[in-house]
Parts: sequence; C-alpha cells; structure tokens
Amino acid sequence: MQIATVSLGIFLFASMCLHADEKRGNKHAADRGEIPKSPVRDSDFYDDGNPRDAKVALGNFLFFDKELSGNRNISCATCHHSLTDTGDGLSLPVGEGGRGLGVTRDTGTGMDAIHERVPRNAPPVFNLGAREFVRMFHDGRVETDASQPSGFRNPAGEKLPPGLENPLAVQAMFPVTSATEMAGQAGENPIADAAASANLAGPGGVWEQLARRLQGKDPSSPFYDGSTSPYLSLFVAAYPGEIAGVEDITFVHAANAIAAFEAVAWRADNSPFDRYLRGDREGMSKEAERGMKLFYGKAGCADCHSGKFQTDQDFHAIAMPQIGPGKGVGLNGHDDFGRQAVTGNSADHRKFRTPTLRNVALTGPWGHDGAFNTLEGIVRHHLNPVASLNAYDTAEAILIPRPDLNAIDFQVHSDAASRADIAASNTLAPQALGDEQITQLVAFLRALTDPASIDLRLDVPVNVPSGLPLAE
Ligand code: HEC
Ligand code: HEC
Repeated sequence: MQIATVSLGIFLFASMCLHADEKRGNKHAADRGEIPKSPVRDSDFYDDGNPRDAKVALGNFLFFDKELSGNRNISCATCHHSLTDTGDGLSLPVGEGGRGLGVTRDTGTGMDAIHERVPRNAPPVFNLGAREFVRMFHDGRVETDASQPSGFRNPAGEKLPPGLENPLAVQAMFPVTSATEMAGQAGENPIADAAASANLAGPGGVWEQLARRLQGKDPSSPFYDGSTSPYLSLFVAAYPGEIAGVEDITFVHAANAIAAFEAVAWRADNSPFDRYLRGDREGMSKEAERGMKLFYGKAGCADCHSGKFQTDQDFHAIAMPQIGPGKGVGLNGHDDFGRQAVTGNSADHRKFRTPTLRNVALTGPWGHDGAFNTLEGIVRHHLNPVASLNAYDTAEAILIPRPDLNAIDFQVHSDAASRADIAASNTLAPQALGDEQITQLVAFLRALTDPASIDLRLDVPVNVPSGLPLAE
C-alpha cells in the first residue's frame, strides 16, 4: 500500500505512457487489432505438436500421481483436472490437505486441514504448449529470458537446473515446492521441510527427494520394495539413450514429460473460430462472426487479447476485484500487486497477464482470483472497470466455506483505500457497448471452444504407477 500511495502519481503517468507505447508496437504489433491472418499450425507448438508418445504417456501418469506431493495427498490434476476443464471450478483452490474435487472439495480435517486458500485462481492449461506462451503464471514469474544462465527467469533464479525444454516445463518444477499447493507444512514430511528451508535444488532438496521417490529409492513410497521403480520402464521409453537405470532419473525429466503431456492433451485449436481461420467461412455462426469483428475491431479487445490465442502475452491492470488471502502485500498482507512483485517496478502495480481466451466459456470462474462467475459478467467488467469494481457482488466468488478463511476473503475488497488504489491503477478506458453487441462478443467467446475439450475424461488414467488412489 505505502509504495502504491507514495508513487501513485508517478506510476499512473508512467503506466499511461507505457500503455500508449505498447499500443504503438511490439512483436505482436502485426496482429494487434486485426483478425489473425493465419490459422493455428503444428509448427506453432513445441516439437511441431508431436513429442514422443512415450514421453507424453509418462507425463500423463506424473500429472495424476500424488507421489509428487509431500504428503502424497494431491496431484497436479487436483487443481487442473480433466473433469473440471483443466482448472478446479473454484475462484481460489483448496490445496494440499483438502479432499474431493472441484466445487465438492472440502478444506480437510484435524492436522491435515488447509492453512489458507491458494491466493490465485488455478488457470486452465489449454494450448500452453504453443511457443508464443513465453510467460507462465498470472504474474509471469516464469519466463523465457536468454540473459539467464538457465534460459529462464524463474523463482529459483540461478539454482534452476539445466535441461528444461520450455517455460511450461519450468513451471512444472514449482507447484511441488509450494507448502499450500503440494509440499505440505514444515514438520509433516521431509519434502515440506526442504521447501520450508528454501532448499529446492541442493542435496536433499525438494527436486532431489522427488527424483529419489521416482527412482524407487524412498522407503516411504507405497511401492518401495528395495528392487526397482515402477516408473523406470516409463522413463527409459520416454528418454531412450538418456535414461538407462534409475540413477539417471531427475525431476527435470519429470517436468519435461509433464509439459509434453500438457501440450498434447490440451492443445485446443479446432473451435468454430479455427475452422473460420482455416477458410471455412460458414464455420462460425453469424452472431459469433459479428462478435469477432467487434473483438478485433471497435470494441478494442484485441488491444490486449491479440493474435490467434487472444493474448499479447503482456500485463495490464484492469481493476479486477481482489479477493482471498493475497500475496503478503497491502492491507494485512491480503492484497496482490501482480506483476510488480516480479519486476519491483511500480509501473507494474496490479498488472496481471492477459489470459488466452481459448476455451474461455469452459474455464470459469474468471480473472486472476476468480472473482467473476459469469462470462457476461467479466465481459461487462471490461466496459467500465472501476464502476464494476465498486459494484462487485461478492456472491460471485466460488469459495469452499470455512469461517476463518471467509473472514479474510473480502478484507481488501471491503477496504475503501485498497479499492481506490485498484481503481487508480486501472488502464482500461470505459466504453459504451449495447446489449446486442455484448451478446455478440459472448457468442464469439463461445466460438473459441474446441468441441474436443468439452469431454476430457479419456485423459484420466485408470491407475498410476505408485498405486496411490486417483480419487481426490
Ligand atoms: C493447489 C492447486 C494446484 C496444484 C496442486 C497445481 N497447480 Fe498449477 N496452478 C495453480 C495456481 C493457483 C496457478 C496460478 C498461480 C499464479 O499465477 O500465481 C497455477 C498455474 C499453473 C500453470 C500456469 C498456467 C498459466 O497460464 O500460466 C500451469 C501450466 C500449471 N499450473 C500446471 C501445474 C502442474 C504441472 C502441477 C503439478 C506439478 C500443478 N500445476 C499443480 C494451482 C495448482
Ligand atoms: C487493457 C487490456 C485489455 C483489454 C483492452 C481487454 N482485456 Fe480482457 N483481460 C485483460 C486482462 C489483463 C485480464 C486478466 C485480469 C486479471 O486476471 O486480473 C483479462 C481477462 C479477460 C477475461 C477473463 C479470462 C480468464 O480466463 O479469466 C475475458 C473473458 C476477457 N478478458 C474478455 C475481454 C473482452 C471481450 C474484451 C473487449 C471488450 C477485453 N477482454 C478487453 C486485459 C484486457
């Protein structure tokens, strides 16, 4: 808060300039404000959309295997499940310690009960294997950066091990290190202890301990019998010539395989909009086509949601209501300043990454903290962000109730000074669109749904190598 108020004038000015600058051009300038000229192609994806099958199969198991969590009670899929459209259907996730899936998840009991909600919405994982997604997370704290020794700017800095193939793989290194998401609380297990002492990459660190589990060398694993790991043959098939015995398995191999799985399973480029881009002019309804013209034209959506995937891969402040436990800044530590926490630059105050809008009709609640629960609601928010912020109905938030957590959820939103700061950071100018135009925009957003993404049951394995249950 202090940072914000002191430099409010300066950064408002700075961010306005920045915005104008952004509009003048960067690498996406060719696409900005225009209907994309070319359709999505295989070459837009890593490995030209065709990584080794055995690597994808390994990644599929790892994504669903709770062996990757400190207390063996949560997998990546818990928050990005195929049955909840690669998110969790909640505004804010219930991490390790909770039980159940999606809106039926609970906050756990006794010692295992969660300590706080995860502070941001679990984003969908559609199309993130496309090369243009060079920044991961709502604040882009993982990003491709050639000036870094590992090739990526990331929360572990120079300690990030080499060999990670792309930002999606780098991302997969981190959920396992988070106490609330997957590692557990200090004292509960050795992985949680290593995470709590910030030992990720060192001897006995989180990644080495997880590799030992996958190597079949951790006596606490349910499959441990002193012989070999049920994962060995899968790693050997995924990395021929690179992995011969269990000693060769590292968590970097696991992360690269998870990324290959995510990229293949959740590529989604067969929507009506894609059919239209591929030349089928009847591919989209007339209403959606009018919506598309508004989106890439007069409504200005493509100033930020540009290109084939509807994102400039950049950051903007659009006065989203702030809910949940926050990221340790602002009022009682419950606020979230977005990109500013990564760059330390006050011009980035409250900016969040422009999300892709592929499959957006499937992936609510929407926004970095899931504040909005209807697609029309979040579209209308864009038309007058500050008025929408002040009129925000907290009943929109989809949060698993627990009195002590509820007591925190709306502290920032209820605080007039915090709300004024959110309003002052906004860079999205209000505009008047009629109901008919909003209906057309929403029809276009619905035309971004790939029918193959509506039913993802086949991505759920029947069992996982560790033998741990798949039920949440
Ligand atoms: C407890 C819930 C939870 C679990 C478990 C979890 N995630 Fe996430 N995931 C999130 C949240 C929340 C974010 C956004 C965090 C942020 O932006 O600060 C996220 C972000 C991501 C992103 C970035 C998406 C984007 O658009 O930038 C990917 C990819 C992802 N997770 C994959 C994984 C993988 C792989 C695992 C397992 C290794 C995993 N997640 C485990 C909640 C979870
Ligand atoms: C100034 C840049 C900007 C413009 C212009 C813009 N948006 Fe957004 N939009 C964003 C950002 C940034 C977010 C994410 C905000 C957050 O998470 O706090 C977002 C979020 C969304 C979401 C929610 C997506 C999700 O997965 O949560 C939808 C839907 C959306 N925008 C649609 C539109 C439409 C339709 C228009 C045109 C009327 C538009 N946007 C114009 C920047 C913009």
